[in-house]
Amino acid sequence: MPEPVSPIVWRDGELEIIDQTRLPEELVFIRPRTVEEVWKAIRELKVRGAPALGIAAAFGLYLAIKDFQAKGEEELCAQLKKAADYLASSRPTAVNLFWALKRVQEKVARAQGLGVEKIKELVLREALAIQQEDESMCLAIGRYGAELLKEAQAILTHCNAGTLATARYGTALAPVYYLATQGKVLRVFVDETRPLLQGARLTAWELKQAGIPVTLITDSMAAVVMQKGWVQAVVVGADRIAANGDVANKIGTYGLAILAREHGLPFYVAAPSSTFDLTLATGEEIPIEEREPAEITHLGLRPIAPQGIAVFNPAFDVTPHHYITAIITEKGILRPPYQESISQVLFKEAARQ
Ligand code: MRU
Repeated sequence: MPEPVSPIVWRDGELEIIDQTRLPEELVFIRPRTVEEVWKAIRELKVRGAPALGIAAAFGLYLAIKDFQAKGEEELCAQLKKAADYLASSRPTAVNLFWALKRVQEKVARAQGLGVEKIKELVLREALAIQQEDESMCLAIGRYGAELLKEAQAILTHCNAGTLATARYGTALAPVYYLATQGKVLRVFVDETRPLLQGARLTAWELKQAGIPVTLITDSMAAVVMQKGWVQAVVVGADRIAANGDVANKIGTYGLAILAREHGLPFYVAAPSSTFDLTLATGEEIPIEEREPAEITHLGLRPIAPQGIAVFNPAFDVTPHHYITAIITEKGILRPPYQESISQVLFKEAARQ
């Protein structure tokens, strides 16, 4: 199997990002040079997917201070904070973005006295560490998830929680890639994922690149695929998971969870610990991004609805925890009751400190 691509690379002092809005037609890299360009790339979904947003934001922080002529550490930190607040305004739902911004700032706060240049280096090192750790977490998710899917012939997934959404390997797709390296090839049914078609454009593209068999369906065909017994599990990613296990993910995920329950199929969520937000008791508190009506009223530039029609276009929904069979993380598989398993499996070191 060819190695899945990495959507974000730091190469020769430059940030290189796959422009995901151009896929599947062409594989084009962009090189944002400023924090403003990183913000725009995030806002316009050139880079997207919860873990990838955190990685991009961390590199965005470095770009914000790299050439900043600070008189001292205080001024540098003020610039860093300004950049972090700005990047935090790009997209609201994926907590990985806020997690990464906080992590870099906390690292800097602990390194006071190092001097301006060394702090700049520290910020770059932290961004690289976030990227490297995400890749390792995805690999571990792949190994744990493979245990759950080893008897399956096919799975259904939604949106893109693959290599393009992470440092590499993905979350929901990581078990598929891992099993392929072990000689077990699963078929993946991919929802096209209206309105922005991350499933059709991105998931279908990356799986095809990797030589994994894909069947593309429209979102409304998922029920029939389950009814026919063509998939043995549903596996999705997550943008934010609350303390009780409620999961925010791409719009349409909640409906799939209900369908999976009706058809007696396991519904798995795959996510690294950076996707958990224990400051929120339930999914009701997760901020849900609402996007432009034109994403629904137009196909590209062509109108497909009457002009001026009322539109509701939330980018994410929240799946209540009781529909989720298990959450696959880099530290192990979480089972209900999630309130307990999250703190026992995922954050036990943090609790001990
Ligand atoms: O709007 P997007 O494309 O950023 O939404 C992405 C998703 O909903 C993914 O499923 C989620 O971020 C998990 S990525 C590993």
